[in-house]
Amino acid sequence: MSAVANTKAITPPDIRSRKGGTPLVCLTAYTTPVARLVDPHCDVVLVGDSVGMVLHGLPSTLGVTLEMMIMHGKAVRRGLEQALMVVDMPFGSYEESPEQAFRNAARVMAETGCAAVKLEGGAAMADTISFLAGRGVPVMAHVGLTPQAVNAFGGYRLQGRGGDADRIRRDALAVAEAGAFAVVLEKVPEALARGITAEVAIPTIGIGASAACDGQILVVDDMLGLFGDFRPKFVKRYAELGQAAEAAIAAYAQEVRERMFPAAEHVFADPLKGAHATKSGEAA
Ligand code: KIV
Repeated sequence: MSAVANTKAITPPDIRSRKGGTPLVCLTAYTTPVARLVDPHCDVVLVGDSVGMVLHGLPSTLGVTLEMMIMHGKAVRRGLEQALMVVDMPFGSYEESPEQAFRNAARVMAETGCAAVKLEGGAAMADTISFLAGRGVPVMAHVGLTPQAVNAFGGYRLQGRGGDADRIRRDALAVAEAGAFAVVLEKVPEALARGITAEVAIPTIGIGASAACDGQILVVDDMLGLFGDFRPKFVKRYAELGQAAEAAIAAYAQEVRERMFPAAEHVFADPLKGAHATKSGEAA
């Protein structure tokens, strides 16, 4: 069931109080080993519904289920000691009513041990955010490009151009007013992100929204170069692990075919020829 609350861990009020301070560092994680890697360096670790595209090969985040989020949330929980863990509410699990959102968010928190949830949407979600925040569910909001609305937007394009900027500004103000402790601003022009960051009382966490935000978030597989050829302009690749993995797999395949692997050092000697047992119980 749920993990016990960790008293050393960063909390939603800690994140809220970082408005205007040293930029908040946030990354996604979906598994225990990656959570262990990112935890010492991050203020927030998001179990994003991007997991559907990144790990499950789905064409969008729309097919992600509550069960998937809970399974990955449990895995990430086991790898975290200090970062604030936030779990995304998947499409269809919170939009119907504040009551539906509370029921599902409470399940996510109880079963994963996360301290907060994230949901997409601005002014339209204000009542839901206020309902959750008033009942012990800290909410990170998400405005601008909200990938669960990809069909309504007609794609993943830049949001907040021209007259649309005011809609996003009003969305950010509405979620802050409703009680969100932070808001993700996705794929909006720098001037808009700067204006919103100056206007809202809660930290803005940018993804494709410039360094004017109070913090940054990236999908960890994107910044590590693990997610195929997908290269949005706002992602900096800090490593090319996909290429390194491909080279390693090709080398393995070649060595197996040429009987170069396993080599002598990977092979257990014949016990009849005097091998002795090591401490770990393996034959030397
Ligand atoms: O699902 C996700 O990973 C996200 C971040 C990119 C903000 O929502």
